[in-house]
Amino acid sequence: MESGNLTFTMIKPGAVSNEYIGPILSKITEAGFRIAAMKMIKLRTAQAEVFYGIHRDRPFFKSLVEFMTSGPIVVAVLEKENAVEAYRALIGNTNPEEAKSGTIRKLFAESVSKNAVHGSDSDENALNEAMFFFSRSEIFTKDGEVMMAAN
Ligand code: PPS
Repeated sequence: MESGNLTFTMIKPGAVSNEYIGPILSKITEAGFRIAAMKMIKLRTAQAEVFYGIHRDRPFFKSLVEFMTSGPIVVAVLEKENAVEAYRALIGNTNPEEAKSGTIRKLFAESVSKNAVHGSDSDENALNEAMFFFSRSEIFTKDGEVMMAAN
């Protein structure tokens, strides 16, 4: 996988229940990202605890896991040159109060926890996070080819 061209995102429960999937995907594609993989799922507690394991010792860990398992989410792999940095610019600051106008979080987030979307913070994490939810055969990169033989 050319991880430099890929990032991973989740549209979080609050944004899904507010019917913001369509508007958020529009912002993503208007910004020049390709959707290389996407599905709607509901995280189980154990999955959320692993995904956010790096925050296990933070005071907000329990509420983060509860929120992320409270309803369906959309998980997706996005493709664009320099995808991680470009997507973090598009979504804006983790805290919507500090996010620039026009960013996804400024437009659609309710708070630092209900902040509409997740975006990977490094190429390495993008790859790990994508593979957490998708098999290689489910990720379709720009040339239209399945990334590798089905696994
Ligand atoms: S870090 O490591 O300090 O940069 O953490 P940050 O990126 O700010 O936040 C990591 C994720 O934790 C969520 N978060 C919270 N959830 C619940 N309550 C509080 N107070 C809180 N603060 C941060 C935040 O939405 C981040 O989720 P992701 O999915 O990574 O955007």
